[in-house]
Amino acid sequence: MRRLFPHPADDVALRECYDQPRPRPAHRPWVALCMVTGLDGSTVVDRNSRGLSNATDQQLLLTLRSFADVILVGAGTVRAEGYGPPRLPGQRIAVVSRSGEFDFDSPLFASGKALLILPADAPHVPVPSIRAGVGDVDIADALAQLDAQVVQAEGGAALNGLLAAADVIDELNLSLSPQINGGAGPRLTSGAPALSHRMQLAHVLEDDGFLFTRYLRAR
Ligand SMILES: NC(=O)c1ccc[n+]([C@@H]2O[C@H](COP(=O)([O-])OP(=O)(O)OC[C@H]3O[C@@H](n4cnc5c(N)ncnc54)[C@H](OP(=O)(O)O)[C@@H]3O)[C@@H](O)[C@H]2O)c1
Repeated sequence: MRRLFPHPADDVALRECYDQPRPRPAHRPWVALCMVTGLDGSTVVDRNSRGLSNATDQQLLLTLRSFADVILVGAGTVRAEGYGPPRLPGQRIAVVSRSGEFDFDSPLFASGKALLILPADAPHVPVPSIRAGVGDVDIADALAQLDAQVVQAEGGAALNGLLAAADVIDELNLSLSPQINGGAGPRLTSGAPALSHRMQLAHVLEDDGFLFTRYLRAR
């Protein structure tokens, strides 16, 4: 793993590069979004992200998770990628949904380590939930209700659109996979209104043609 920016170096360790301060903003946890895209912005190949990722990118996901109390993920991603329970003690997975329709016998929900984030008018669910907003989840309100210091958001595009619209993405860890994919899959965000949130480049790493970038919200 090479670091290209800042301070170029030929052999750096993932943990050392990503073990950085993540101060809790007032009233909500720090939100770090982790995504992998192809060179044309694809976030989905053959219905999930596996075809975009590699072993180092998977290692990065696990490293970033180790800094988080809560993993935040959209219902579409839980269904497409077959999310299981978190591996670290005390960690929880918060799933954003409108419908509340899931297989509650699946390992994720049976573990007792998952909660749902739902609008107030969503149906009753048999697992712990946070209610915020009506019709749509009010993600800023939901984050304020989470007992967490650091939230690792893991997509997909619809959840990212909610986070971007609420301007709560403090950190973006974007892996750039060296491939052009085409197709009609979503880009990094979907559903957000036009906006211009300036991000500051914190580092660029390279391994096997993948670029591992880290951006911080310039506030
Ligand atoms: N490349 C990557 O790094 C990466 C990362 C993550 C996911 N992905 C891929 O992205 C795809 C999924 O992305 P996606 O955008 O379709 O789904 P998503 O963001 O994971 O989840 C969408 C779901 O979230 C809920 N939702 C969306 N907007 C809402 C709102 N305003 N209020 C309340 N709930 C809301 C709805 O759940 P209900 O249906 O339950 O109502 C909706 O179906 C999958 O193919 C996955 O493999 C790629």
